Amino acid sequence: MTAQAPHPPIDTSRPHSARVYDALLGGKDNYPVDQQVAELLPEDAKIGARQQRAFMNRATAWLAGEGLTQFLDIGTGIPTEPNLHRIAQGIRPSARVVYCDNDPIVLRHAEALMVSRPEGRTDYVHADVREPAVILEAARDTLDFDRPIALSLLGLLHLLPDSDDPLGLVRTFTDALAPGSYVVLSHGASDVNEEIGQQSEEEYRKGGMHLALRTREEFARFFEGLDVVAPGLVKAPEWYNDTAAPTQEHSGIYVGVARLP
Ligand SMILES: C[S@@+](CC[C@H](N)C(=O)[O-])C[C@H]1O[C@@H](n2cnc3c(N)ncnc32)[C@H](O)[C@@H]1O
Repeated sequence: MTAQAPHPPIDTSRPHSARVYDALLGGKDNYPVDQQVAELLPEDAKIGARQQRAFMNRATAWLAGEGLTQFLDIGTGIPTEPNLHRIAQGIRPSARVVYCDNDPIVLRHAEALMVSRPEGRTDYVHADVREPAVILEAARDTLDFDRPIALSLLGLLHLLPDSDDPLGLVRTFTDALAPGSYVVLSHGASDVNEEIGQQSEEEYRKGGMHLALRTREEFARFFEGLDVVAPGLVKAPEWYNDTAAPTQEHSGIYVGVARLP
C-alpha cells in the first residue's frame, strides 16, 4: 500500500460522502450521521448510486475486453462487490489496478481492495484528487505510464466545486497518460430533474458537504480533445445497457468513456 501516514481517525460526528454513498448502496460501513443524509436524499439518489456502480462494472469489462490491463481508479469508495479489480482481472488476470481515495474509512478497508489474482497486482493510494502529482508518483510503482491506462473518476467530480478546477485536474491526469489510454467519468446531472437535483445539493450542504451537479454541456467539457466512444455521453443505464434496466427508473447520472488520441 502506498498510504503515506498512519491511519487518520474516522470522524463520526459529521457525514462523509463515501459513507453516505455506502448507505445509499445499502452497505454497512456508515454511521447514523451518514444514514440521516441518505434518508433525506430523494429516492433517485439511491437509484443513481446503483446505476453508477453498474456502469463501472460494464465500462471496466468493456475496457478489459478491449485489451486494457492497467487501471487507475480515483475516488474508489468503500469496497462494494464486485470491485473494479475483480471485474478487470476476471477478464485479464494480469491486470494491474491502483485505487485512490482520500477518506479514512476507505483506507481502513483498503485490504479488501488489494486482493489480487497472482498474475496481477492491486495497490491503494491514500490521497486527494486535488494533488495529482502525489497520486501519479505513487501510481507509477504499479502502473507503466508508457502503456495505456484506463483512468476512472466515478461519482467524484460532482463533489468538487468549480473553485477546485475539476476540468484542470482531469486534464493534468490525462496529460500524464500514454496515447490509447481511456478516461471513464460519471457525474450527477443538474438538468435532468432540476427539483431533485436542487434537493440533493441542499441535503449535502446541510450535512456540511459539497455537491456540484452539472449540465450535460458542462459534463461534455471534461471530454474535450478526447475521442468519446459509442454510445457517447449518455445517462448511466444507456451505456451499453444490454440487460434491460427497469424502465420506471430514470437516471440523473451522466457517463462517458473516451480514448486518448
Ligand atoms: C460517490 S463515491 C463513488 C465511489 C465509486 N467511485 C463508485 O462510483 O461506486 C465518491 C468517492 O470519492 C471520494 N472523494 C471525495 N472527495 C475526494 C477527493 N478530494 N480526493 C479523493 N477522493 C475523494 C469519497 O471519499 C468517495 O469514496
